[in-house]
Amino acid sequence: MTAATLRVAVLISGRGSNLKAILDAIAAGQLPARVVQVISNRPGAAGLQLAAAAGVPTAVVDHKRFADRAAFERALEAQLAAEPADLLVLAGFMRVVTADFVARHRGRLLNIHPSLLPAFAGLDTHARALAAGVSEHGASVHFVTAAVDGGPLIAQFRVPVRPGDTEDGLAARVLRAEHRLYPQVLAWYAAGRLALRADTVLLDGLALAAPVQFADTEDDDA
Ligand code: GRF
Repeated sequence: MTAATLRVAVLISGRGSNLKAILDAIAAGQLPARVVQVISNRPGAAGLQLAAAAGVPTAVVDHKRFADRAAFERALEAQLAAEPADLLVLAGFMRVVTADFVARHRGRLLNIHPSLLPAFAGLDTHARALAAGVSEHGASVHFVTAAVDGGPLIAQFRVPVRPGDTEDGLAARVLRAEHRLYPQVLAWYAAGRLALRADTVLLDGLALAAPVQFADTEDDDA
């Protein structure tokens, strides 16, 4: 590990499967980064155990213990300061962050969302995709700005919606896509290839006119 290794803080609320995908990519030598801490706003989040098992420091900042979002975020900032990070990665972090928080971390704050944004921002994306009858669904990684699920898009992983798909089946297919997409985007960031300038994503110094697209070529769960 070199001094230039990207220091990443991961914020979670639950299961932590995206966190695991990131840790696995680091362990496999595909992502030159170090997760310096994992913070959950939920004390029982399964991802905390997963982090601890990987030797990553964990912390809980329980939003329920604070009177308002500003107080919660002050505690979150204090915890983040304990292990300074170059990049904050939201991975199933189910709290909306304030415009102040975003402004402090602008360009160093990423999120993954289980839909092809701008379609299906918000919750219950898989049920809504099925109800809408779309033929494609997927996952998006974006820089976080004050617009919830509306920040500049970096990359998307598209998956097919198949006849007879259930919500669970579709969710599992999208989750596998997430696990491939997030480490890839983080690897770009770690290599210094990715930046945010104003509201424009730069990859290799060039403005992205549209998010980079990935799609599954294998029929891995047919
Ligand atoms: C993922 O689908 C993520 O996109 C969404 O919440 C889920 C978190 O899953 N925001 P996990 O905790 O990473 O397993």
